[in-house]
Amino acid sequence: MKKSLIIYSSVDGHTEKISKKISENLVHSHEVDLISLDEVKSKNLNDFDQIVIGASIRYGNYRKELFKFVDENVGVLSLKENAFFSVNVVARKEEKNNKDTNPYISKFLKNTKWSPKIIDVFAGVVDYPSYKYFDKFMIRLIMFITKGPTNTKNRYEFTDWNRVKKFSSLLDNQ
Ligand SMILES: Cc1cc2nc3c(=O)[nH]c(=O)nc-3n(C[C@H](O)[C@H](O)[C@H](O)COP(=O)(O)O)c2cc1C
Repeated sequence: MKKSLIIYSSVDGHTEKISKKISENLVHSHEVDLISLDEVKSKNLNDFDQIVIGASIRYGNYRKELFKFVDENVGVLSLKENAFFSVNVVARKEEKNNKDTNPYISKFLKNTKWSPKIIDVFAGVVDYPSYKYFDKFMIRLIMFITKGPTNTKNRYEFTDWNRVKKFSSLLDNQ
């Protein structure tokens, strides 16, 4: 069986949830290890046939640790079957929800020497009740400006789980 490593960079847990779903979709054909970017040092990347990285956006940025990890491992990553996905709420918009139109995919590719073989973007979550005052205020403002939902009593999940399934199938056939 092929071995896959799925690495997630997640602040509030949604990218982790998507990564878990991908790993569930892959287990029939792959031996899958799922790990947070913060713990990935415990893994030897050479042990895997496939490496998948998923990362979320906060205030326009990925975590800097993501770029550090990719920079340090671009050689080994490129030798493997590999894929990258981004999670952000801009991707809820039809015109910004694919790899050629989502600004955070361009941002990732611009800042790394890695050219992932499969790339996708998934819309994430706005979970107002879980945010502290400042974040709640800022996200609500951004949502207001971009014509998104503004009721701070609610959690809004924009993820298209069918799309996550399709992405998993591509990984399956890689
Ligand atoms: C404080 C904060 C800032 C965010 N900034 C952005 C942003 O600049 N652009 C965007 O598209 N999404 C933004 N998001 C949405 C997140 O990308 C989305 O909630 C995602 O599901 C988070 O994934 P995670 O739980 O794995 O961190 C932000 C969310 C929070 C809580």
